[in-house]
Amino acid sequence: MRTQVLVIGGGPSGLLLSQLLATQGIDSIVLERRTKDYVLGRIRAGVLEQGFVDLMDQAGVSARLHAEAIEHSGTLIAVEDDYFRVDFQHHTGTPVLVYGQTEVTRDLYDAREAAGGAMIFNTENVTIHDAETDTPYVTFTTDGQDQRIDADFVAGCDGFHGVSRQTIPLSVRREYEKIYPFGWLGILSETPPVHHELIYASSHRGFALCSMRNEALSRYYIQCSLSDHPEDWTDAAFWAELKRRIPKEFSDRLVTGPSIEKSIAPLRSFVTEPMQWGRLFLCGDAAHIVPPTGAKGLNTAASDVHYLFQGLKGYYQDGSEAGIDTYSQNALARVWKAERFSWWFSTLLHRFPDQSEFDLKMQRAEIDFLRTNEAAQNAMAENYVGLPY
Ligand code: APR
Ligand code: PHB
Repeated sequence: MRTQVLVIGGGPSGLLLSQLLATQGIDSIVLERRTKDYVLGRIRAGVLEQGFVDLMDQAGVSARLHAEAIEHSGTLIAVEDDYFRVDFQHHTGTPVLVYGQTEVTRDLYDAREAAGGAMIFNTENVTIHDAETDTPYVTFTTDGQDQRIDADFVAGCDGFHGVSRQTIPLSVRREYEKIYPFGWLGILSETPPVHHELIYASSHRGFALCSMRNEALSRYYIQCSLSDHPEDWTDAAFWAELKRRIPKEFSDRLVTGPSIEKSIAPLRSFVTEPMQWGRLFLCGDAAHIVPPTGAKGLNTAASDVHYLFQGLKGYYQDGSEAGIDTYSQNALARVWKAERFSWWFSTLLHRFPDQSEFDLKMQRAEIDFLRTNEAAQNAMAENYVGLPY
């Protein structure tokens, strides 16, 4: 088999790239290790930057998003029993859209299937060959059959545990990482959200987040120990702890119910440089990870896809290699700004085990500065709604 762009990974990054390429008549094949249903079963954040929405418009897959997404023009920041609002619309003129990543992925799969896009599932032993040449190829096994696909380019959209990043030699690759000493225990419940916007809460007991998927489906998180397991927490214990961490105005009106999903996610900041090697390009979680606090995972994967799509479009339509030659530097310039915001917002709101009394005073002063200063709120809003591509 042969294609122009071989995409490894059928998550949001790979599917969005494949769909964008198809709009320009550039053919691609997507290799996905799992099944489509498995991919769609993942529960992920759902706050979309306008830049992501614009890409979905460009890809022709945004109809349901525009019909069903909830527009948020701000968010609440709570400290113990007090809270204030950061008004994104006022500071930036831009809202964010709340629409589950699962729905984004579903819309992309529907579009690829409708277009007859080539997707191969249950692929095993994917191996990238000759990435540093003009004739890369990929071998893999599916249904017990060994396969080979030759391509002009390989897009590594295979997430943090994929094969693409590992293909770049350690002598070429540099990795930067910060592991946070806590996790997020998250539940999904078929209950109405406690507030019409998100509430990021910093309390002496730890961080909490009140989010949603729609008016009848709520998503809540509490900071937890890395030694915790979801089964350690009954629903009742989760609700009781969440109520202790948010202002009384909201805990009094919180509608609780059975969890339909309960999981713990560790928090990590991670970046690999460079994001390309020869004709292999890394996109999304394959190249970088952010703590979920700033909801930047999917949105930063989107800007990677934008830069790579523009580079490949320039190659095939104008014979220009400028975009693909500068992909890594262009993508990383925005990746590091998203890493910084995610690190800043996480450090601002969470309790760290080694915090001194002075550290706590600094944290509280930073929150008070955000509460009272227009420039501070403007900076937060600019980062939250998404910096320009
Ligand atoms: N071969 C083929 N597919 C693979 C391989 C492999 N060796 N390894 C991983 N995959 C698949 C995974 O099964 C997954 O479906 O690649 C896909 C990667 O998808 P994501 O992990 O969702 O990463 P990405 O598409 O970059 O999306 C980033 O998703 O994980 C969230 O928080 C993240 O919101 C961010 C967004
Ligand atoms: C979520 O709804 O899952 C969510 C929202 C905002 C975040 C993180 C997660 O910052």
